[in-house]
Amino acid sequence: MINVSTEIEPMQDPGPAPHVMRNADIDPKAEKRAEQQVATLFTLSGLSSLLLIYSYVFLPTDVFIFIPVMGDQNAHQLGLGLGMAFSLLFLGMGAIHWAKKLMPETEVINHRHEFRSSDEDRDELVKTVKHAAAEVKLGRRSLIKRSLGFSLGLFALPPVLLLRDLGPLPKKLLETTSWKAGTRLVTDPGNRPILASDLEVGAVVQTLPEVPHPDERLLSDIAKDPVLLIRIRPEDFQLSPEKFAMTHDGIIAFSKICSHMGCAVALYEQQTKHLLCPCHQSTFDVTRGAKVIFGPAARPLPQLDITVDDEGYLIARAPFNESVGPSYWERNSQ
Ligand code: FES
Repeated sequence: MINVSTEIEPMQDPGPAPHVMRNADIDPKAEKRAEQQVATLFTLSGLSSLLLIYSYVFLPTDVFIFIPVMGDQNAHQLGLGLGMAFSLLFLGMGAIHWAKKLMPETEVINHRHEFRSSDEDRDELVKTVKHAAAEVKLGRRSLIKRSLGFSLGLFALPPVLLLRDLGPLPKKLLETTSWKAGTRLVTDPGNRPILASDLEVGAVVQTLPEVPHPDERLLSDIAKDPVLLIRIRPEDFQLSPEKFAMTHDGIIAFSKICSHMGCAVALYEQQTKHLLCPCHQSTFDVTRGAKVIFGPAARPLPQLDITVDDEGYLIARAPFNESVGPSYWERNSQ
Protein backbone atom coordinates (compact mmCIF):
# COMPACT_ATOMS: atom_id res chain seq x y z
CA MET A 1 0.00 0.00 0.00
CA ILE A 2 1.42 3.34 -1.03
CA ASN A 3 0.47 6.44 0.95
CA VAL A 4 0.00 9.52 -1.20
CA SER A 5 0.17 12.79 0.64
CA THR A 6 -2.20 15.51 -0.64
CA GLU A 7 -0.63 18.32 1.38
CA ILE A 8 0.96 21.06 -0.66
CA GLU A 9 3.91 22.92 0.66
CA PRO A 10 3.11 26.66 0.88
CA MET A 11 5.31 28.76 -1.40
CA GLN A 12 7.78 30.94 0.35
CA ASP A 13 7.96 34.61 -0.56
CA PRO A 14 11.52 34.92 -1.91
CA GLY A 15 11.50 38.63 -0.99
CA PRO A 16 13.00 41.38 -3.03
CA ALA A 17 15.98 40.57 -5.21
CA PRO A 18 19.28 41.72 -3.77
CA HIS A 19 20.10 45.25 -4.82
CA VAL A 20 22.81 45.53 -7.44
CA MET A 21 24.68 48.77 -7.21
CA ARG A 22 24.76 50.84 -10.39
CA ASN A 23 27.60 53.05 -11.53
CA ALA A 24 25.60 56.14 -10.65
CA ASP A 25 25.14 54.80 -7.10
CA ILE A 26 28.83 54.59 -6.40
CA ASP A 27 30.52 56.99 -8.81
CA PRO A 28 29.63 60.69 -8.46
CA LYS A 29 30.95 61.33 -11.98
CA ALA A 30 28.63 58.68 -13.44
CA GLU A 31 25.77 60.17 -11.45
CA LYS A 32 26.50 63.63 -12.84
CA ARG A 33 26.75 62.23 -16.37
CA ALA A 34 23.40 60.45 -16.04
CA GLU A 35 21.83 63.62 -14.72
CA GLN A 36 23.06 65.58 -17.73
CA GLN A 37 21.79 62.91 -20.11
CA VAL A 38 18.33 63.06 -18.55
CA ALA A 39 18.35 66.85 -18.72
CA THR A 40 19.40 66.71 -22.38
CA LEU A 41 16.51 64.39 -23.23
CA PHE A 42 13.97 66.61 -21.47
CA THR A 43 15.40 69.66 -23.22
CA LEU A 44 15.14 67.92 -26.60
CA SER A 45 11.52 67.12 -25.79
CA GLY A 46 10.82 70.80 -25.09
CA LEU A 47 12.58 71.84 -28.30
CA SER A 48 10.47 69.35 -30.25
CA SER A 49 7.34 70.93 -28.80
CA LEU A 50 8.68 74.28 -29.97
CA LEU A 51 9.10 72.80 -33.47
CA LEU A 52 5.45 71.74 -33.37
CA ILE A 53 4.33 75.20 -32.29
CA TYR A 54 6.53 76.88 -34.92
CA SER A 55 5.13 74.59 -37.64
CA TYR A 56 1.58 75.29 -36.55
CA VAL A 57 1.96 79.06 -36.44
CA PHE A 58 4.47 79.86 -39.18
CA LEU A 59 4.67 77.10 -41.78
CA PRO A 60 2.15 77.57 -44.60
CA THR A 61 -0.06 74.61 -45.36
CA ASP A 62 0.66 74.67 -49.09
CA VAL A 63 4.46 74.33 -49.01
CA PHE A 64 5.95 70.94 -49.88
CA ILE A 65 9.52 69.77 -49.37
CA PHE A 66 11.23 66.82 -51.01
CA ILE A 67 12.47 64.08 -48.70
CA PRO A 68 14.39 61.12 -50.13
CA VAL A 69 12.39 57.88 -50.01
CA MET A 70 9.26 59.73 -48.82
CA GLY A 71 8.96 62.10 -51.79
CA ASP A 72 7.15 65.46 -51.54
CA GLN A 73 5.82 66.10 -48.07
CA ASN A 74 3.66 68.90 -46.73
CA ALA A 75 6.02 70.97 -44.56
CA HIS A 76 3.28 72.08 -42.16
CA GLN A 77 2.06 68.56 -41.45
CA LEU A 78 5.59 67.19 -41.33
CA GLY A 79 6.56 69.78 -38.71
CA LEU A 80 3.49 68.98 -36.62
CA GLY A 81 4.10 65.23 -36.83
CA LEU A 82 7.82 65.34 -36.12
CA GLY A 83 7.37 67.87 -33.33
CA MET A 84 4.73 65.76 -31.57
CA ALA A 85 6.59 62.47 -32.11
CA PHE A 86 9.97 63.69 -30.84
CA SER A 87 8.41 65.62 -27.99
CA LEU A 88 6.79 62.41 -26.70
CA LEU A 89 9.81 60.26 -27.52
CA PHE A 90 12.36 62.40 -25.68
CA LEU A 91 10.05 62.96 -22.73
CA GLY A 92 9.57 59.19 -22.37
CA MET A 93 13.26 58.45 -22.87
CA GLY A 94 14.21 61.05 -20.28
CA ALA A 95 11.79 59.61 -17.72
CA ILE A 96 12.98 56.05 -18.31
CA HIS A 97 16.64 57.02 -18.20
CA TRP A 98 16.08 58.95 -14.98
CA ALA A 99 14.29 55.97 -13.43
CA LYS A 100 16.92 53.45 -14.51
CA LYS A 101 20.03 55.41 -13.68
CA LEU A 102 19.22 57.69 -10.81
CA MET A 103 16.05 56.78 -8.94
CA PRO A 104 16.33 54.38 -5.98
CA GLU A 105 15.87 50.77 -7.08
CA THR A 106 14.55 49.39 -3.82
CA GLU A 107 11.44 47.30 -4.43
CA VAL A 108 8.41 48.20 -2.38
CA ILE A 109 5.50 45.75 -1.98
CA ASN A 110 2.16 47.29 -1.19
CA HIS A 111 -0.39 44.70 -0.02
CA ARG A 112 -4.09 45.14 -0.69
CA HIS A 113 -6.01 47.02 1.94
CA GLU A 114 -9.14 49.09 2.42
CA PHE A 115 -9.64 52.05 0.15
CA ARG A 116 -8.99 54.54 2.87
CA SER A 117 -5.71 54.03 4.56
CA SER A 118 -5.40 54.37 8.29
CA ASP A 119 -4.03 57.62 9.62
CA GLU A 120 -0.80 55.88 10.50
CA ASP A 121 -0.42 54.61 6.94
CA ARG A 122 -1.12 58.06 5.52
CA ASP A 123 1.47 59.59 7.79
CA GLU A 124 3.82 56.82 6.76
CA LEU A 125 3.16 57.55 3.09
CA VAL A 126 3.94 61.22 3.52
CA LYS A 127 7.17 60.27 5.26
CA THR A 128 7.98 57.78 2.48
CA VAL A 129 7.33 60.32 -0.27
CA LYS A 130 9.48 62.87 1.50
CA HIS A 131 12.15 60.27 2.01
CA ALA A 132 11.97 59.17 -1.66
CA ALA A 133 12.13 62.80 -2.81
CA ALA A 134 15.22 63.21 -0.66
CA GLU A 135 16.73 60.02 -2.12
CA VAL A 136 15.98 61.06 -5.68
CA LYS A 137 17.69 64.31 -4.71
CA LEU A 138 15.16 66.29 -6.68
CA GLY A 139 15.83 69.29 -4.53
CA ARG A 140 19.49 69.08 -5.42
CA ARG A 141 19.01 68.11 -9.04
CA SER A 142 17.94 71.52 -10.15
CA LEU A 143 19.15 70.80 -13.70
CA ILE A 144 16.69 67.92 -14.09
CA LYS A 145 13.97 69.83 -12.29
CA ARG A 146 14.30 72.83 -14.59
CA SER A 147 14.58 70.80 -17.80
CA LEU A 148 11.60 68.65 -16.78
CA GLY A 149 9.58 71.80 -16.09
CA PHE A 150 10.63 73.18 -19.49
CA SER A 151 9.65 69.95 -21.22
CA LEU A 152 6.30 69.48 -19.47
CA GLY A 153 5.40 73.15 -19.77
CA LEU A 154 5.89 73.16 -23.52
CA PHE A 155 4.36 69.72 -23.88
CA ALA A 156 1.08 71.12 -22.53
CA LEU A 157 0.90 73.85 -25.19
CA PRO A 158 0.33 71.83 -28.40
CA PRO A 159 -3.00 70.32 -27.24
CA VAL A 160 -4.24 73.85 -26.61
CA LEU A 161 -3.21 74.86 -30.13
CA LEU A 162 -4.83 71.79 -31.63
CA LEU A 163 -8.06 72.46 -29.73
CA ARG A 164 -8.09 75.97 -31.18
CA ASP A 165 -7.74 74.39 -34.62
CA LEU A 166 -11.04 72.53 -34.33
CA GLY A 167 -12.89 75.45 -35.84
CA PRO A 168 -14.11 78.97 -35.20
CA LEU A 169 -14.83 79.97 -31.63
CA PRO A 170 -18.43 79.11 -30.69
CA LYS A 171 -19.36 82.74 -30.13
CA LYS A 172 -18.19 83.74 -33.63
CA LEU A 173 -19.83 80.67 -35.14
CA LEU A 174 -23.17 81.41 -33.53
CA GLU A 175 -23.25 85.16 -33.86
CA THR A 176 -22.18 85.71 -37.45
CA THR A 177 -23.58 84.82 -40.85
CA SER A 178 -22.24 85.28 -44.37
CA TRP A 179 -24.36 88.39 -44.91
CA LYS A 180 -22.33 91.56 -45.40
CA ALA A 181 -23.10 95.07 -46.63
CA GLY A 182 -23.48 94.86 -50.41
CA THR A 183 -24.03 91.07 -50.59
CA ARG A 184 -26.52 90.19 -53.29
CA LEU A 185 -29.48 88.00 -52.45
CA VAL A 186 -29.60 84.96 -54.72
CA THR A 187 -32.30 82.35 -55.20
CA ASP A 188 -32.02 79.04 -53.38
CA PRO A 189 -31.92 76.80 -55.33
CA GLY A 190 -30.67 78.45 -58.51
CA ASN A 191 -28.14 80.91 -57.16
CA ARG A 192 -29.53 83.71 -59.35
CA PRO A 193 -29.54 87.35 -58.26
CA ILE A 194 -33.02 88.78 -57.75
CA LEU A 195 -34.36 91.90 -59.41
CA ALA A 196 -36.64 93.73 -57.01
CA SER A 197 -38.93 94.49 -59.94
CA ASP A 198 -39.39 90.74 -60.58
CA LEU A 199 -41.10 90.20 -57.22
CA GLU A 200 -44.84 90.63 -57.27
CA VAL A 201 -46.95 91.49 -54.25
CA GLY A 202 -47.62 88.21 -52.41
CA ALA A 203 -44.38 86.60 -53.59
CA VAL A 204 -42.15 84.72 -51.18
CA VAL A 205 -38.66 83.55 -52.10
CA GLN A 206 -35.99 81.66 -50.16
CA THR A 207 -32.60 83.30 -50.66
CA LEU A 208 -28.97 82.95 -49.68
CA PRO A 209 -26.09 85.42 -49.75
CA GLU A 210 -24.16 85.40 -53.04
CA VAL A 211 -20.73 83.80 -52.57
CA PRO A 212 -17.97 83.22 -55.17
CA HIS A 213 -18.09 79.41 -54.86
CA PRO A 214 -21.59 78.30 -53.83
CA ASP A 215 -20.59 74.62 -53.85
CA GLU A 216 -18.02 75.30 -51.14
CA ARG A 217 -20.44 76.79 -48.64
CA LEU A 218 -19.79 75.56 -45.11
CA LEU A 219 -22.56 73.54 -43.50
CA SER A 220 -22.59 76.00 -40.61
CA ASP A 221 -23.30 78.83 -43.07
CA ILE A 222 -26.01 76.90 -44.86
CA ALA A 223 -27.65 76.44 -41.47
CA LYS A 224 -27.60 80.15 -40.58
CA ASP A 225 -27.80 82.10 -43.84
CA PRO A 226 -31.23 81.33 -45.38
CA VAL A 227 -33.45 84.36 -45.64
CA LEU A 228 -37.09 84.62 -46.64
CA LEU A 229 -37.96 87.47 -48.95
CA ILE A 230 -41.59 88.54 -48.95
CA ARG A 231 -43.34 91.31 -50.85
CA ILE A 232 -46.49 92.92 -49.58
CA ARG A 233 -47.99 96.36 -50.18
CA PRO A 234 -45.90 98.97 -48.35
CA GLU A 235 -49.02 100.47 -46.77
CA ASP A 236 -49.74 97.12 -45.03
CA PHE A 237 -46.62 97.38 -42.88
CA GLN A 238 -47.02 98.35 -39.21
CA LEU A 239 -43.34 98.87 -38.50
CA SER A 240 -41.23 101.28 -36.50
CA PRO A 241 -39.44 103.84 -38.73
CA GLU A 242 -36.15 101.97 -38.22
CA LYS A 243 -37.59 98.61 -39.29
CA PHE A 244 -39.47 100.20 -42.18
CA ALA A 245 -36.21 101.72 -43.43
CA MET A 246 -34.82 98.16 -43.64
CA THR A 247 -37.45 97.21 -46.24
CA HIS A 248 -37.46 98.07 -49.95
CA ASP A 249 -40.64 99.02 -51.75
CA GLY A 250 -42.78 96.50 -49.83
CA ILE A 251 -40.08 93.81 -49.82
CA ILE A 252 -38.98 92.60 -46.41
CA ALA A 253 -36.38 89.97 -45.51
CA PHE A 254 -36.29 87.77 -42.41
CA SER A 255 -33.98 85.02 -41.22
CA LYS A 256 -35.60 81.70 -42.03
CA ILE A 257 -34.25 80.14 -38.83
CA CYS A 258 -36.92 79.97 -36.16
CA SER A 259 -36.12 81.93 -33.03
CA HIS A 260 -37.56 79.13 -30.90
CA MET A 261 -35.39 76.08 -31.60
CA GLY A 262 -33.96 76.72 -35.03
CA CYS A 263 -36.31 74.90 -37.41
CA ALA A 264 -36.84 76.34 -40.89
CA VAL A 265 -39.83 78.68 -40.94
CA ALA A 266 -41.27 77.21 -44.08
CA LEU A 267 -44.94 78.18 -44.40
CA TYR A 268 -46.33 81.53 -45.52
CA GLU A 269 -50.01 82.34 -45.43
CA GLN A 270 -50.54 84.92 -48.10
CA GLN A 271 -53.99 86.00 -46.89
CA THR A 272 -53.05 86.63 -43.27
CA LYS A 273 -49.38 87.46 -44.05
CA HIS A 274 -48.27 85.07 -41.34
CA LEU A 275 -45.15 82.93 -41.33
CA LEU A 276 -45.48 79.56 -39.60
CA CYS A 277 -42.86 77.29 -38.13
CA PRO A 278 -43.90 73.67 -38.63
CA CYS A 279 -42.01 72.35 -35.61
CA HIS A 280 -44.01 73.90 -32.75
CA GLN A 281 -46.38 76.18 -34.64
CA SER A 282 -44.82 79.50 -33.73
CA THR A 283 -46.51 82.12 -35.90
CA PHE A 284 -44.91 85.40 -36.95
CA ASP A 285 -46.74 88.43 -38.31
CA VAL A 286 -44.89 89.74 -41.37
CA THR A 287 -46.64 93.13 -41.31
CA ARG A 288 -45.33 93.76 -37.78
CA GLY A 289 -41.73 92.75 -38.38
CA ALA A 290 -42.26 89.02 -37.74
CA LYS A 291 -43.63 89.68 -34.26
CA VAL A 292 -44.62 86.43 -32.52
CA ILE A 293 -48.40 86.12 -32.35
CA PHE A 294 -48.62 82.44 -31.39
CA GLY A 295 -46.45 79.60 -30.17
CA PRO A 296 -43.36 79.17 -28.03
CA ALA A 297 -40.93 81.47 -29.88
CA ALA A 298 -39.89 84.31 -27.61
CA ARG A 299 -38.74 86.91 -30.13
CA PRO A 300 -39.34 88.00 -33.73
CA LEU A 301 -37.35 86.59 -36.61
CA PRO A 302 -34.26 88.79 -37.18
CA GLN A 303 -34.82 91.22 -40.06
CA LEU A 304 -32.17 91.76 -42.75
CA ASP A 305 -31.63 95.34 -43.90
CA ILE A 306 -32.06 95.31 -47.71
CA THR A 307 -31.95 97.72 -50.64
CA VAL A 308 -31.10 97.50 -54.37
CA ASP A 309 -27.84 98.09 -56.24
CA ASP A 310 -27.36 100.19 -59.38
CA GLU A 311 -28.73 97.40 -61.56
CA GLY A 312 -31.85 96.93 -59.46
CA TYR A 313 -30.74 93.69 -57.82
CA LEU A 314 -31.59 93.18 -54.16
CA ILE A 315 -28.60 93.44 -51.81
CA ALA A 316 -28.07 93.49 -48.06
CA ARG A 317 -27.40 96.99 -46.76
CA ALA A 318 -25.86 95.55 -43.59
CA PRO A 319 -25.37 92.18 -41.89
CA PHE A 320 -27.95 90.98 -39.38
CA ASN A 321 -27.72 93.22 -36.35
CA GLU A 322 -28.45 90.30 -33.99
CA SER A 323 -27.81 86.55 -33.85
CA VAL A 324 -30.07 84.36 -35.92
CA GLY A 325 -31.57 81.17 -34.56
CA PRO A 326 -32.72 80.04 -31.12
CA SER A 327 -32.83 82.47 -28.21
CA TYR A 328 -30.13 80.69 -26.29
CA TRP A 329 -28.91 83.90 -24.72
CA GLU A 330 -30.15 87.36 -24.07
CA ARG A 331 -31.41 89.15 -27.20
CA ASN A 332 -32.06 92.80 -27.74
CA SER A 333 -34.94 92.56 -30.21
CA GLN A 334 -38.10 91.98 -28.25
S1 FES B 1 -38.59 75.59 -33.69
FE1 FES B 1 -40.05 76.89 -34.51
S2 FES B 1 -41.64 76.81 -33.15
FE2 FES B 1 -40.19 75.53 -32.27
